[in-house]
Amino acid sequence: MSKPEETKMEKVVSLCKRRGFIFQGSEIYGGLSGIYDYGPLGTDLRHNIKQYFWDNFIKERDDVYGMSAAILMPSRVWEASGHTELFTDPLVECKVCHERVRADQPEAIADHESKHKKEKVEWSKPTVFNLLVETKLGASETTAAKVNLRGEITQGVHVNFKNILDSMHPKIPFGIGQIGKAFRNEITPRDFLFRQREFEQMELQYYIKPEEAEGKRVFEYWKQFAFDWYLGLGFKKENLRLRQHASDERAHYAKDAWDIEYNTPFAGWKEAWGIHHRGDWDLRRHSEYSGVDMSYFDEEKKERFIPWDIECSGGVDRAVLFVLLEAYTEDEVDGEKRIYLKLLPRIAPIKVAVFPLLKNKPALVEKAREIYIMLKKEIDGVSFDDNGNIGKRYRRQDEIGTPYCVTVDFETIEKGAGVTIRDRDTGKQERVKIDELTKYLKVV
Ligand code: GAP
Repeated sequence: MSKPEETKMEKVVSLCKRRGFIFQGSEIYGGLSGIYDYGPLGTDLRHNIKQYFWDNFIKERDDVYGMSAAILMPSRVWEASGHTELFTDPLVECKVCHERVRADQPEAIADHESKHKKEKVEWSKPTVFNLLVETKLGASETTAAKVNLRGEITQGVHVNFKNILDSMHPKIPFGIGQIGKAFRNEITPRDFLFRQREFEQMELQYYIKPEEAEGKRVFEYWKQFAFDWYLGLGFKKENLRLRQHASDERAHYAKDAWDIEYNTPFAGWKEAWGIHHRGDWDLRRHSEYSGVDMSYFDEEKKERFIPWDIECSGGVDRAVLFVLLEAYTEDEVDGEKRIYLKLLPRIAPIKVAVFPLLKNKPALVEKAREIYIMLKKEIDGVSFDDNGNIGKRYRRQDEIGTPYCVTVDFETIEKGAGVTIRDRDTGKQERVKIDELTKYLKVV
C-alpha cells in the first residue's frame, strides 16, 4: 500500500523539528501532551512576532502602557474573575478505555471513535471540567497557599489597575498591554501549537468611560486595528476573517466578542485572536472581592466610575503556527522540488545569510566574513554559511524562510563588482555595491 500523502500540517511539524523551530516538550522523556519547546529559529520567529505586537500596540502609542505581571496568582483572583466557577469545558469519558475528551469537539470524538473501530464506543454523561491549573506555594504542607498559574494573562493587568493609576496618572481612555505565558488544563490538546496547555498570549486592555456609544466606537476601532495588524504578519486577505460570537458562545465576561479567524488547512476557519467587550466585569469584581476601590476619577468632569474594558487578546503560538502554515510553499527549481517559507523579512528568524562562493578560497571567505560582521552591526538576524555547495546553502536558507542571501564571488574581489543578492521567492539575483548593501537590505 502506498504511503498516504503528508498533510500540510504534518509537513510543517516535520520542518519545525528538522530545522530547529519547535520540538515536543521534554521529548526524551516521552513528551508531555500539549507542551512544546522552541528551538533557536522558532524562538527568533516568536520573538519577532512579539516585538511587532509590542511596537504597534504599545511602544508607538501615547495612550498605552506596557507591563509584565507574574504567572502565579492567588486562587482568590480567579474566584473574583469568575474563572473558578465558569472557566470550564464539557467533558465525556470513553467507557471502553477511560480516555477523556471534550464533548463539544466533534473532531476529538471522531478521532477517538476511529481508534476503537472494532468496539462500539459508549460515552459517559458530560460533566464540567475546570481548566485552571493549580499548585501550592510555601514549605509547609498545612499552611501552603493554594495558587493558580494564570489561565489568561488579563487578570495580571486588572489587579494592577490601581497601581497604574497611582503611579502613571493616565487620562482615560488608555490601555495596558502585556505579553506572557498562560496555562490551561485543556482536556484534549491537539493540532500542534493550536491547542496547548502552556502557551503565550499578547494582549491589550483598553479602559474607557462606561458609555454605550463610546464602547461601540472603541470596540470597532480595536477590531479593525487587530485585524490589520494580523494581516501585517503576511497573510493573504482571503485567509483571514472576522466573526462575531453568538450569545451562547461568549465567555462569561464578554458583552460582545469577535474572533479573527484563519482558514487553516487542518480544520477550516479557526480562532487566531479575540476582541472582547468586557464591560466593567473585571474591575467591578476585583473591587468587590479585594475590597480595594478600582474606580477612576475624572478630574475634568469630577466624576467617579468603574471603567469599561475593550480587550484585544491574541495567541502568540497560534500566530507562529498560522504564519508557518501560510508561509509553507513548495515549488520546483531546476527540476528539483524546493520547500521554502515565504516569511516577511520583519518576522523571518534570519533576514540575511552571507556566503563565500567557495569555502576553500581564503580571499572569498575573508571578504564574506567582513561583510557578515558589517551587516550584523546594523541588522538583526544575519548568519554566515560556508557549508556545502552554494545550491545546498540556498535550499537550507529557503527552508527556514531567509528572504535574502548575499554571495561573495570572484568578481567581488577581483573587479570590485559588489556582491550578489538572491531573492528567496523569485530566485533572482542582483548585484549590489558593498557600501550600498546595508541600506539596500534595510529598505527591502
Ligand atoms: N483574555 C481573553 C482570553 O484569554 P481566549 O479567547 O480564551 O481569550 C485568547 O484566548 C487567545 O489565546 C486565543 O485567540 C488563542 O489565540 C490563544 N489561546 C487560547 N487558548 C489556547 C490554547 N489552549 N493553546 C494555544 N493558544 C490558545
